Amino acid sequence: MSGINYSEKIPNNVSLATDRTLQRALEHWQPHFLDWWRGMGPTDFQGADVYLRTAVSVDADGWAQYGAVKMPDYRWGIFLADPVAERKIGFGDAMGQPAWQQVPGEYRSTLRRLIVTQGDTEPASVEQQRLLGHTCPSLYDLRNLFQINVEEGRHLWAMVYLLHAYFGRDGREEAEELLARHSGDADKPRILTTFNEPIGDWLSLYCFTYFTDRDGKYQLKSLAESGFDPLSRTCRFMLTEEAHHMFVGETGIGRVVKRTLAVMKELGSDDPARVRAHGAVDLGLLQKYLNFWCSSSLDLFGNEVSSNSAANFANGLKGRPDETTYDDHVLREKTFALKTPQGTDNVPMLNALNEVMRESYLKDCEIGLKRWNRVIERAGHGALALKLPSSRFRRSIGAWAGQPVDPRGNFISNEIYLRELNSWIPSEQDRAFVTSLMQRVVEPGKIAGWVAPPERGINNLPVEHEYVKLH
Ligand SMILES: [Fe+2]
Ligand SMILES: [Fe+2]
Repeated sequence: MSGINYSEKIPNNVSLATDRTLQRALEHWQPHFLDWWRGMGPTDFQGADVYLRTAVSVDADGWAQYGAVKMPDYRWGIFLADPVAERKIGFGDAMGQPAWQQVPGEYRSTLRRLIVTQGDTEPASVEQQRLLGHTCPSLYDLRNLFQINVEEGRHLWAMVYLLHAYFGRDGREEAEELLARHSGDADKPRILTTFNEPIGDWLSLYCFTYFTDRDGKYQLKSLAESGFDPLSRTCRFMLTEEAHHMFVGETGIGRVVKRTLAVMKELGSDDPARVRAHGAVDLGLLQKYLNFWCSSSLDLFGNEVSSNSAANFANGLKGRPDETTYDDHVLREKTFALKTPQGTDNVPMLNALNEVMRESYLKDCEIGLKRWNRVIERAGHGALALKLPSSRFRRSIGAWAGQPVDPRGNFISNEIYLRELNSWIPSEQDRAFVTSLMQRVVEPGKIAGWVAPPERGINNLPVEHEYVKLH
């Protein structure tokens, strides 16, 4: 079951050949996807040979095979994690009942909406990142970018498969729409705001993959709990791919920190102006990028109080990430002490699940901060340690939306907020400076001056390996 059939037009491990109608529908969608990839995917690199990994099996070990591939020839396909025998629904009012192999009629439109919303983010991020190849800091980074891009493309396939296989005509229409909306498009934007923000520089890419892909991880984890078994299995395999995207973010920011500390040591100074004049990112500037992308990603979890997520949980459609680690899986009796600008509100736990998810997401975000700060402290600059902004800072959704709050979560006057905002998130000058650093480096083994080389290469190859052959 876990082996992937690559002899078919659409690689898959779902025995696609046994369902001719579905196979035909997906084969009809495939050229539309490829057109989208050529038009909206990474610009100007379609002919390059990229050292990519491709899934060969969904087993925990050895699912990937590495080799030089031209991106349009990447074998995008449909890979589901192996089924769990006699899997039961693990939460909500239907807890303990057998997981659904088909979509229950009463949940059809909700499930379709959940799948479309998740699916929409996948091609969106490819669109957001499409110009980055031109300013890559190294071939190693360029390869990682393209690996992420092809995998986000595959995640689109993962969701489109569900739409085609389980949602009939509506599903096929939604699959077309997933290729028709575009990131930042004035008429047909992507569904979620964060996925319409352009990612114009590599510092933003590292932050995006650290914070926004991690939101993706949390969404996928909660959908992996779903009572709708095909969705659960799809998401479980997607999570194994997602881990690499966050690795790129965490190590990318770590390499920026390392390089900045080296420059500070060389200069014998932590003066931001001198660090910048030396072509590096001062830690204050990095902090602003963290503030921006963290606060923007926090909005993706939605309102603190949500009857939709209560219903999704109660109905067994979407659980909490790592549902099994909780004691109570029904939550009809529990309450949650929610802090709002007005004070503390006791709300039914079921209604507060977005906030529960946001809190566990923030805890996960702390892990990288600890690692980076250890390096900063060891270099003797503990006073410049990086911090996550408060979850109340610069929010656009929920109880804290539009509130004048500083990055530590304190209420301040509107006047101070507006005056200080540019010292908390990147100002136009900051962005212009970061853009000025983005000079393309494509000589094997060479790295741009604002970021340290990685500690190791891909798949045991040396860092100097020519990970992308540009021709
Ligand atoms: Fe993804
Ligand atoms: Fe991702």
